[in-house]
Amino acid sequence: MALKIISVFGTRPEAIKMAPLIKALEREKNFQSKVCVTAQHREMLDQVLRLFNITPHYDLNIMKEKQTLSEITTSALIGLERVFNSEKPDLVLVHGDTTTTFVAALAAFYHKIKVGHVEAGLRSFNKWFPYPEEINRKLTGVLTDLHFAPTTTAKSNLLKEGVSEENIFVTGNTVIDAMAYTVRKDYVFRDERLNQIDYNNKKVIVVTAHRRENWGQPLENICNALKNIAKNYKDTYIIYPVHKNPVVRETVFSILKGLDNVLLLDPLDTDEMHNLMAKCYMVMTDSGGLQEEVPSLGKPVLVLRDVTERPEAVEAGTVKVIGTEQQVVYNEGALLLENKEEYDKMANAVNPYGDGKASLRIIQAIKYAFNLTDKKPEEYKGGE
Ligand code: UD1
Ligand code: UDP
Repeated sequence: MALKIISVFGTRPEAIKMAPLIKALEREKNFQSKVCVTAQHREMLDQVLRLFNITPHYDLNIMKEKQTLSEITTSALIGLERVFNSEKPDLVLVHGDTTTTFVAALAAFYHKIKVGHVEAGLRSFNKWFPYPEEINRKLTGVLTDLHFAPTTTAKSNLLKEGVSEENIFVTGNTVIDAMAYTVRKDYVFRDERLNQIDYNNKKVIVVTAHRRENWGQPLENICNALKNIAKNYKDTYIIYPVHKNPVVRETVFSILKGLDNVLLLDPLDTDEMHNLMAKCYMVMTDSGGLQEEVPSLGKPVLVLRDVTERPEAVEAGTVKVIGTEQQVVYNEGALLLENKEEYDKMANAVNPYGDGKASLRIIQAIKYAFNLTDKKPEEYKGGE
C-alpha cells in the first residue's frame, strides 16, 4: 500500500518552497501525494499554483480581508479536521512558519497523524521578531515527528531544544530547488516594463516589505528612506512589487506613488520575481525567503528588520541586517550605491542554503522513516 502524504500550505512562500517537493512526491510510486491549501492567501497563492501547475485536492478558501491571527487559526483548524477525517493520511507535510503551518501541525496531532516539518529549526531567539513566525516555528517543532532542517545551524537549534538527532535530516532549502526551475539566463519578462529597463546603466533596487511587525511606523520609515534614495540618486530605479495586504498597500502607495524612478507593482509571478532579482543591482527587504534566494544570485541584500533567523548569509557577508530606522536605511542604501568596494564585498555569490537536491533528500528521509529503505540520506553540507 502506498504511503499517503498530504502537503498542507496556505501562503505564497510556503507554496513556492513546497512546489518542487510536491512535484518530486508525485513521481514516487511508493507515495500517494495529495495537496490541501488553506488559501490563507488567495491571489498570491494562486499565482504560484499556476506557475508550478499544481491543482490542490482540497482548497479551504479561508482568506478574508485584513484577517486576524485568530480568524486564520480557527478557520484552518476546522477545515483541516474535515480533510484529515476523510483522508486519514500517514503523514502531513507542513512548511516554515506561517499560521497555516502551525495549525496544520496541530490538526495533524489532534488526529494522531505524523508531521513532517520542511524548513525546520530556524530561530531568531526573539519571541516578537518575526511576529508571529518565531513562535509558529517553535510550536510546529513541538508537534513534529520528522524535522527537515535546511542547514546545520537549524539542526543544532533543534538539538539544543532536545529534539532527538535521529529525527532531524539536514536537507538544504527547497527554495533553491525552485530556483533551478525559475531562473534562466535568457529569460524574457512577460511584463514588458521589466524588459525595457537598462539593467547595465541603471542601479535597480528590488524592494519587498510587508511583515506584521513592520506595519505602521517602521514601514513608513522604510518608505521615506526609499523616497529620499530615489530623489537623491537619479541613476537608481526602485522596483517594489507590493504585497496584496491593504494595510501594507495604504502605507506604501501613500508615500512612494508618483515618483518617476519608483515602480510600484502588484505581486509578481515568482519566475518574474526571481529573474528580476537575478538582473538587479541590490535588494532591500524584510522577507525571509529573499534572504535565501538573493545570495545565490550574487546580489547584496539589506534586511529591513532588527533580527534574522537566517544567519548563514549574514556570516557569508552577502546579507546585512539594518533595521528600520529611516536614516540608517537611507545611509546603508546610499553606501552600496556609492561605494564600489563595499558593494563588491557583498555582491559575492554564495549559496549556503541549498544545492537543488533538498526535495530528493526529504523524500529519501521519509522513505527511511517509514522503513521503505534502510539508507538514510546524506546530510546537506553546504554553507559550512
Ligand atoms: C503571511 C504569514 C507570514 C508570511 C507571509 C508571506 C501569518 C500570520 N503570516 O503574512 O508568515 O511571511 O504571509 O507573504 O501566517 N491578501 C490578499 N490577497 C492575497 C494575500 C493576502 O488580499 O493573496 C491580504 C488580505 O487582506 C489578508 C492580508 O493580506 O487578510 C494579510 O494576509 P495574512 O496571510 O494574514 O498575512 P501576511 O502579512 O500575508
Ligand atoms: N515573491 C514573488 N513575487 C513578489 C514578491 C516575492 O513571487 O512579487 C516571492 C519571493 O521570490 C520569495 C517569496 O515570494 O520566494 C517570499 O514571499 P513573501 O515575501 O510573501 O514571504 P516571506 O519570505 O516574508 O515569508
